[in-house]
Amino acid sequence: LNYQVPRTRKEIFETLVKGLQRLEYRGYDSAGIAVDGPNKVTSDINGNTICLIKKKGKVKALDEELYKKDILDLDAQLCTHFGIAHTRWATHGEPSAVNSHPHRSDKDNEFVVIHNGIITNYKELKKYLITKGYEFESETDTEVIPKLIKYVYDNRESDSITFSTLVERVIQQLEGAFALVFKSRHFPGEAVSTRRGSPLLIGVRSEHELPTEQIPIQYNSGQLKEGLQEKNSHNRPDCSNANAINSVGDDKAVEYYFASDASAIIEHTNKVLYMEDDDIAVVTGGKLSIHRVNRQAGENPIRAIQTLQMELQQIMKGNFDAFMQKEIFEQPESVVNTMRGRIFFETNTVVLGGLKDHLKEIKRCRRLIVIGCGTSFHAAVATRQLLEELTELPVMVELASDFLDRNTPVFRDDVCFFISQSGETADTLMALRYCKDHGALTVGITNTVGSSICRETTCGVHINAGPEIGVASTKAYTSQFVALIMFGLMMSEDRLSLQKRRLEIINGLKVLPELIKKVLSLDEKIKAIANEMYEQRSLLVMGRGYNYATCLEGALKIKEITYMHSEGILAGELKHGPLALIDKNMPVIMIVMRDACYVKCQNALQQVTARSGRPIILCCQDDPEVTKNAYQTIELPHTVDCLQGILTVIPLQLLSFHLAVLRGYDVDCPRNLAKSVTVE
Ligand code: G6P
Repeated sequence: LNYQVPRTRKEIFETLVKGLQRLEYRGYDSAGIAVDGPNKVTSDINGNTICLIKKKGKVKALDEELYKKDILDLDAQLCTHFGIAHTRWATHGEPSAVNSHPHRSDKDNEFVVIHNGIITNYKELKKYLITKGYEFESETDTEVIPKLIKYVYDNRESDSITFSTLVERVIQQLEGAFALVFKSRHFPGEAVSTRRGSPLLIGVRSEHELPTEQIPIQYNSGQLKEGLQEKNSHNRPDCSNANAINSVGDDKAVEYYFASDASAIIEHTNKVLYMEDDDIAVVTGGKLSIHRVNRQAGENPIRAIQTLQMELQQIMKGNFDAFMQKEIFEQPESVVNTMRGRIFFETNTVVLGGLKDHLKEIKRCRRLIVIGCGTSFHAAVATRQLLEELTELPVMVELASDFLDRNTPVFRDDVCFFISQSGETADTLMALRYCKDHGALTVGITNTVGSSICRETTCGVHINAGPEIGVASTKAYTSQFVALIMFGLMMSEDRLSLQKRRLEIINGLKVLPELIKKVLSLDEKIKAIANEMYEQRSLLVMGRGYNYATCLEGALKIKEITYMHSEGILAGELKHGPLALIDKNMPVIMIVMRDACYVKCQNALQQVTARSGRPIILCCQDDPEVTKNAYQTIELPHTVDCLQGILTVIPLQLLSFHLAVLRGYDVDCPRNLAKSVTVE
């Protein structure tokens, strides 16, 4: 903010808190804010201090903290000001004030930073920084960033070093995904932000016409720095001219907003600039400039300021009609987030950090029991066969409620997995406690760090799919699926006889995001199919083998949000009852993929068509043998048999979504259902 008319501190807080509230829909567990001035009422609030306030829980709790008497001078007036605020969704370390952002370099808050993303090499960086005497206070990956920038600052070769040079050196050391905004006592009033992999945009609000809507990039050339390794092909920059010149802004009245999502800023401005990977944006003295290290061939040297035409509501859902739809379309990225930093494609190895220390014990067990409810149970069904193959152990899959009802025998040498998006489902939690009481080793697979299941299990895997808002689970399912597959791969690393199979699966995982995109491109076709059948009362989904879980999960999606009766049927059981339901009027979806069950599925298809059934068939591309019997076909890309279920479930997620919309129901909040069922 750089304003001719001073703003009160209260107004500054309100702007930041409002921005956080606009992002609340994304889900979070804690919030924090950093602004200029000390954490107490004083006449010297323009002094060279930064106050940091962080709270576990809702933004409202943070807001109340800010307005507590005598903490901050709310009436103080400021002309130039830069504040940062953040809501955190835990990935490393439980939700708590100390783990929430902004993170700081030291007790004097010399550098503070907010981060959206995951730093995958944080352990090595942390180790290095600890050897250099830097002390850590949180369990997060993010905290290495403020410590690292302070390290670079403490070891600077010249006092004229710029803020953006420091940031450039920091990001050369980072691996993973990030959008970062830095604030520093050493550079008052100056904002520096950057991104790689995570979204980041800059909103520009000026009371006057913007002098330019095209921002040319400022390129810097580099040199190397001792102690830290060079990560990228480009070198450390010499940014003596870093306070670039290419800027928009007007000294009189201009405000800049950095945000990971336009919904946080749209009420202030609709002029935005989207940053690209490794761009470093600097705002100082009311001017914005963008920096990069060494221009690469084919790179666009301009960032354009665009005018957003969207409404707030629309932006929150990212141009989708419902969160569920948004989450379905996020799957190419969410599966990558599950794999990030865990699969090493060069060496064909998989390392799940949360299980590493218990692997020996897990390998010695007598059987695996995989427990969950609803969609999470289906993820267990979907991966059971592969887990049996790769671990060479008996694998039981169990619905938590039934497992408890049966007082299932559990032994000390069992390993029990608890799959849960929320990590709070009461039945799953009770089953966990039951298994613990019987002395089994317990493993959590959840999307919610710090949840009860995370806390109470011996070890676990976070699926890192990001917050899931729609009650009907979609992206959590595919991420749970991938996490369980990764577990199988990790367990079989030293089995010579399984190496060929492992390689095939790892290669399949590598291209999975691209294949998911191809499936999502069938949306219009699926919508047209929904249009034909949305008035039906019933819908059967049939398949077998690796795709049986898709039938159960597809039918669950249809039930949950369309309120149609739907059943997932094991094609092998067709003759034992379900065939009686088939006639020309009963809508039936059949999954016939080219895997070990292909011929058997074709037989089931014959049986259905012989009774005048009119199947909608999900099959592989170019399969005339199958499509000739179809009433409708949805042709999907082929992948490794054990991963195919990820691709076959997506058309059913889309179909249920379109059916629910056509039937006029609230997709995100279906009647009678809750996202997290915390009662037995
Ligand atoms: C509820 C939700 C389902 C979810 C199930 C298990 O029934 O509506 O979408 O699959 O709980 O939830 P969890 O959080 O344990 O995965």
